[in-house]
Amino acid sequence: MTSDVQATQDGALAQAQAAYDAIRRRGLKLNMQRGQPADADFDLSNGLLSALGPGDTHLDGLDLRNYPGGVTGLPSARALFGQYLDLKPENMVVWNNASLELQGYVLTFALLHGRGGAPWTGPRPKMIVTVPGYDRHFLLLQTLGFELLPVAMQPDGPDVDAIEALAAADPAVKGVLFVPTYSNPGGETISAEKARRLAGLQAAAPDFTILADDAYRVHHLSPSPAEQDTPVNFVALCRDAGHPDRAFVFASTSKITFAGAGLGFVGTSEDNVRWLSRYLNAQSIGPNKLEQARHVTFLQGYPGGLEGLMAAHAALIAPKFRAVDEVLREELGEGGAYATWTRPRGGYFIGLDTAEPVADRVVALAEAAGVSLTPAGATYPGGQDPHNRNIRLAPTRPPVEEVYEAMRAVAACVRLATEEYRRR
Ligand SMILES: Cc1ncc(COP(=O)(O)O)c(C=O)c1O
Repeated sequence: MTSDVQATQDGALAQAQAAYDAIRRRGLKLNMQRGQPADADFDLSNGLLSALGPGDTHLDGLDLRNYPGGVTGLPSARALFGQYLDLKPENMVVWNNASLELQGYVLTFALLHGRGGAPWTGPRPKMIVTVPGYDRHFLLLQTLGFELLPVAMQPDGPDVDAIEALAAADPAVKGVLFVPTYSNPGGETISAEKARRLAGLQAAAPDFTILADDAYRVHHLSPSPAEQDTPVNFVALCRDAGHPDRAFVFASTSKITFAGAGLGFVGTSEDNVRWLSRYLNAQSIGPNKLEQARHVTFLQGYPGGLEGLMAAHAALIAPKFRAVDEVLREELGEGGAYATWTRPRGGYFIGLDTAEPVADRVVALAEAAGVSLTPAGATYPGGQDPHNRNIRLAPTRPPVEEVYEAMRAVAACVRLATEEYRRR
């Protein structure tokens, strides 16, 4: 290395260190790791708390206070959330407060009872997941004993070539679990073409299953359709491809009304609704109909309905996504010298990839400067990012001014970690 180049690099490192030290001295206390709505988002749904009055004891001819009603959910809730997933009420099970719980049920019942064939516990079952991905998917699958087969999440959805090859090769590969719309963490949406290929793929397992966690299906950042990604309908696509029972599509109101205090639901074929109901019925007389009635009443009464509520969320959340992009562009440039990042049109997260393998160092530097980030590696099974580059940014919870501040700190950490690495 010539002495000129070395002097420039030393200067860049010293500058990055000085910028970082200045931020650290400010004693920040900011959090960019929680994938949660902000209080202002929750406040949009406070009407839910009083949506039912003392006289609202019945809906759909059912007494909300009593057991009868069955396990598939209140008819008006099945109709409303069926519209949400572009499905008929008969294709829906509306359950209690978490879509993850429903994902766990479907997987557990498949393990114990099979899906029309042998139980999935025979040779150790395998499940394809996308990386970077959602740590709770990995946790759920690993807790249930699945071996995880990671495939890349690409800008137009999962690497379907890789999925086709894995599914064709081994009957122990039971399916794929991923987020089809505005994925966690990168915000990618599967293209119609890739969705069709997944619906029609030839798998060695006759009960190969698409578990689509559509948590962000309507979580656009703009109310203008031209600026929105288009969600797919896996239940219809699988039916048309001759695999009518292949897909389960999960979602919830956790990022619509109240997080963990709303409704989880699943859309699937009518045969699968019967399959799921049989096992749900053995362990519950039915879900909480009062909560379902409360959500139906509130969402139907909201100005503009569910779409109106989502537009109100978008108005609060979009400036935070813009803040992340703006600061990163200003501080790190757009050429990828320090990092690249996604620019989703919806969802809750932005995926940042460092140019050098320094994600863990960036997170540690940020922590020391008072900015809490999702742990490096969390977006990979076992918490191990083989490239040490991916960081999930979650801008929804802090107020927008804090997002600006936190991102300036994050950018300084990326710069410093990169310069340190290049001087090693
Ligand atoms: C992709 C994805 N699925 C599910 C959830 C949790 O949903 P629920 O509260 O319905 O279990 C989250 C929350 O961050 C998520 O990002």
